Amino acid sequence: MKYKGIIFDLDGVLCSTDRFHFEAWKQTAEEVGAPFDETINMKLRGVSRMESLEIILSGSSKTFTDAEKERLATEKNDRYRKLLAQMSPADMPAAVRDALTALHNAGLKLAVGSSSKNAAYILEQLDANRYFDAVCDGTMIAHSKPDPEVFTKAAAMVGLAPEDCLVVEDAAAGLEAARAGGMDCAIVGTAPMPFEPTYHMQDVTKLPGTIL
Ligand code: BG6
Ligand code: MG
Repeated sequence: MKYKGIIFDLDGVLCSTDRFHFEAWKQTAEEVGAPFDETINMKLRGVSRMESLEIILSGSSKTFTDAEKERLATEKNDRYRKLLAQMSPADMPAAVRDALTALHNAGLKLAVGSSSKNAAYILEQLDANRYFDAVCDGTMIAHSKPDPEVFTKAAAMVGLAPEDCLVVEDAAAGLEAARAGGMDCAIVGTAPMPFEPTYHMQDVTKLPGTIL
């Protein structure tokens, strides 16, 4: 087999939280008088909460103190967490669970590599922790994607060298992070990418058929 492990991004790969981020950030953008739409929201994929806020604030004519930024980010996260509370195991389809089980049964180590500080809460809501040998998330890293830290750390957590791992991502920042970490990358979905990934597929259910 070409790989010994697979590192999955969470948001947009294992589950869909995009609409929750969109709703929660939209209110922030309205409050600060900055434009916000699907294109701007897409730029926030894979990027940390504070960096996402900076991207939104760059569209506002006002300036903000660190304390104001902290408040805006906290309020956004409170709204986002309320929306996440609606999630349940039904938000991870059986076909995705079957794909994870097939990959694990084939002897691959499976890990999560997410910029989100809410990853543990999301995995709990989905009842999905049991599929993974390790979870590396936004609470454990100093630099978010496109820095490779979350992926190299996830590889180390499952005892593998980066080059033995495949990253699965939906975002340009994640594809860049995988390359910077020396890893192949499978992109799911339709977001525009800065360069060709190793594989491109509709969703994670296509992964076993592609790499096993
Ligand atoms: C990533 C999302 O997984 O997590 C980004 O793709 C988000 O959109 C980032 O900004 C940080 O999320 P959180 O949950 O820590 O605010
Ligand atoms: Mg993502």
